[in-house]
Amino acid sequence: MSNIYTANPANIKKAAEIIRSGHLVAFPTETVYGLGANVYDAKAVASIFAAKERPSFNPLISHIAEIDFLSEYVETDSRAIELARHFWPGPFTMVLKRKEHTSSIDLACAGLPTATVRMPNHPVALNLIRSSGVPIVAPSANRSQTISPTTAQHVADSLGNRVDMILDGGPCSVGVESTIVDVTGKNVVLLRAGGIALEDIEAFLNEKVLVSHGEADRPSSPGQMLKHYAPKHRFQINVLHPEKGVFYIGFGNQQNTDLNLSPCGDLKEAAANLFAYMRIADEMSGDKGIAIAPIPEQGLGLAINDRIRRASYEK
Ligand code: TXA
Ligand code: MG
Repeated sequence: MSNIYTANPANIKKAAEIIRSGHLVAFPTETVYGLGANVYDAKAVASIFAAKERPSFNPLISHIAEIDFLSEYVETDSRAIELARHFWPGPFTMVLKRKEHTSSIDLACAGLPTATVRMPNHPVALNLIRSSGVPIVAPSANRSQTISPTTAQHVADSLGNRVDMILDGGPCSVGVESTIVDVTGKNVVLLRAGGIALEDIEAFLNEKVLVSHGEADRPSSPGQMLKHYAPKHRFQINVLHPEKGVFYIGFGNQQNTDLNLSPCGDLKEAAANLFAYMRIADEMSGDKGIAIAPIPEQGLGLAINDRIRRASYEK
């Protein structure tokens, strides 16, 4: 039997009870679907790692619904509050020094002295957090090292009955994960390109944001394990003229593509389609694998290029 439920008020209420009772709910956000648990329940947090087969040294993002809560949970300063006011709710995540040191939060934060917080811009997510009455810790709702889910069905395909309930709020509008910045130091540092463009953060701060390239297999340089978003087939990037037999994902004004991320060359549209098209390509492609057109390295193109570079990584 399917565990997908339409995200109506009655089902959101049911989902909040499931969260409060220490179980897992997958829910839509504007970026990707999240696999949520009560941040104050260590057993529930542990079951996220088990369901995803995720190494427990890889910390999780806490999702909140009120900015005021931020200063209870983490150390804030005026810059963090201003960033939150400007970019929340939205695909923007901040790494801050944490205040709480309970066992469940230690586990969620993988023992790091920092916590990662965001307020998602999705009515279902916000409603679920408010009805649960606790911050909801949530990674993307997929098995570790596979493509993030942008529909409820993607979650079901990846996690099946490892999740107690999947709230279906339709396809995610942004389609790539949130931008993560570390705001614990003097300079703001970009840890993961995502749904808010780097240029927008720099324009708001009126200063340069440093870009961390992380280390391939160290958790403190987040999400940035090289083998991530791994399709089953060979995946080539920056290809303008694909070989015959390759499943080709185009971008912009191109003929003879199997799929086109955005025929009019809109990077937002391309980001929203990216993960679903990677899944389709993986289903449809044969031995020759998949190739994808060059994507401009600006705006949401940074996040798109980051994800497809990882998908193309061969060890
Ligand atoms: O858009 C998103 O951010 C989605 C939705 C569900 O909110 N969530 C998401 O979570 O992408 P996840 O777990 O798949 O990716 C979060 C990344 C991980 O790569 C993790 O290493 C990093 O954030 N991270 C979490 N806490 C951190 C911390 N304290 N310091 C550094 N990196 C951290
Ligand atoms: Mg993920």
